[in-house]
Amino acid sequence: VEVEIGSPLSIEQAFRLALEEARKGFGGVSPNPPVGCVILDAKNRLLAKGHHQKFGGPHAEVEAFNRVEDKSLLHGAKFIVTLEPCSHFGKTPPCADLLSSLPLAEVHYGLKDPNPLVSGKGLEKIKGAGIGVFSAPPSLQGELEEVAEIFLHFQRQKKCFVGLKVASSLDGRMGLSNGESQWITNAVSREQGHLLRAYYGAVLTSATSVIKDDARLNVRVPPFESKKIPVFLLDRAAKSAEFLKTAKLMKVRSPHDVFIFTGKDNENKWASVLPEGQVLSAPLKEGNLDLAWILREISARGYVSVMVEAGPRLSSAFLSQGLFDRLELFLGNKILGDSPEGSWSKGLRLLKLDQALSLEALRIRTLGGDLWLSGRKPESF
Ligand SMILES: NC(=O)c1ccc[n+]([C@@H]2O[C@H](COP(=O)([O-])OP(=O)(O)OC[C@H]3O[C@@H](n4cnc5c(N)ncnc54)[C@H](OP(=O)(O)O)[C@@H]3O)[C@@H](O)[C@H]2O)c1
Repeated sequence: VEVEIGSPLSIEQAFRLALEEARKGFGGVSPNPPVGCVILDAKNRLLAKGHHQKFGGPHAEVEAFNRVEDKSLLHGAKFIVTLEPCSHFGKTPPCADLLSSLPLAEVHYGLKDPNPLVSGKGLEKIKGAGIGVFSAPPSLQGELEEVAEIFLHFQRQKKCFVGLKVASSLDGRMGLSNGESQWITNAVSREQGHLLRAYYGAVLTSATSVIKDDARLNVRVPPFESKKIPVFLLDRAAKSAEFLKTAKLMKVRSPHDVFIFTGKDNENKWASVLPEGQVLSAPLKEGNLDLAWILREISARGYVSVMVEAGPRLSSAFLSQGLFDRLELFLGNKILGDSPEGSWSKGLRLLKLDQALSLEALRIRTLGGDLWLSGRKPESF
C-alpha cells in the first residue's frame, strides 16, 4: 500500500518504509548496497522518501532530500536511513556532510558501515552537529541485514554471495529422462528468475546445460533488459568450444562477459570465440573442477554475487559442498516421478535426520500457482 505524504509514522514504520525503498534498488546499485531513506517532519509526518537507484548515482539520503519541496519543513525533522550515512568522498560527496548541514532533530540509521575505516565516522560527524543519532530497533536487524546481504557478505568475507537457483517439480525433479525440461515452472516464476539474474548480476552454469538448452541467460524483463549479465561456464573437458560459436548466449552479450573454467591444457580451445584471459584453467578436486577454487577466483575478480543455474548434477554439487549462501527454489505444480537423473539434491548424503539442512529466514511466496522459496544457508552447514 502506498503511504501518502503527510501520513504520521512511528520510527519503526518509517524504517519499514525505508526498507521497501531500499528494495527498489535491487539489480541497479551493486556493488553498492541497496539503501532506502525516509524523512519525517517535526510532527513525525512523512515528508519524503527515496532510494539509491543506480551505482554511481545519488545516495538514498540525497534522493529523499531532493524530494522535499518546502525545505523549511526540515526544521526539527528526522532522517531514517537503512545504512549509516557515508562520511567519505566516493562517487558522490559525503551524505553525513549534507545531514550535518541541515536543522534536523534526529538521524536514525539501520546498519553500521561494515568497512572499519569508515564505520561510525558518519555518525560522529552528525552527532558533532548537535543532531541526535539513534540505531534501529533490534527487531528490524534481521531485515536490515537481509536487504544488504550481498554487500555485507562481500565486505566481511571478501567472497561473492552465491545464490543457488533451482526450478523443479514438487518432487524435486529438474527434467525428464529424455531431457525434456522446458518448462516445469510457469511464466510468472520464470519472470522472477530473470529478475534474480539482474539482482545477482552474474550467472554460473555448466557446459552440459548450455549445450542442452542453448539458453540466453540474459534478463528479458523490465527495467533490466539492457543489463550486462556475465556468464561463468564450467567446462572441464572443453565440450562447449564448438557449440559456443553459434550459441545464443554469445549473441546477446559481449565475449568479454563470458568466462570459461576448464581443465588443464584446454585453454586454447576457445581461441576463435573468446578474447584472451577469458578462459581459465582450474584445478581438479576428486576428478571434477574445484568449485570452491572457482568461486574464490570469481570473487577475486570483483564479482560480488553470482547465481548458479545448472542441472541436477552441478546444482547438487554446490548444495552438498555447502557452496551457496541462499537457495532460490521455484517449485512448479507438477509431479514428475522417479528417474535415473534424480533430484537436485542427489549428491547430499545424510546419516541422521538431525543433520538435515534447514534454511534460515525462509520466505515463501506463490507465483501464479507455483511456489518460490528463498532462504539462507545456515552458517553451520
Ligand atoms: N530446472 C532448472 O533450474 C535447470 C537449470 C539449468 C539446467 N537445467 C536442466 O538440467 C539438464 C542438465 O543437467 P545435468 O545434470 O546433465 O547437467 P548439469 O548439472 O548442469 O552439469 C553437469 C556437469 O557439471 C559438472 N559437474 C558435475 N558434478 C560436479 C562437481 N561435483 N564439481 C564440479 N563440476 C561438476 C560436470 O561437468 P564436466 O563433465 O565438464 O566436469 C557435469 O557434466 C538440462 O537438461 C537442463 O535443461 C535445469
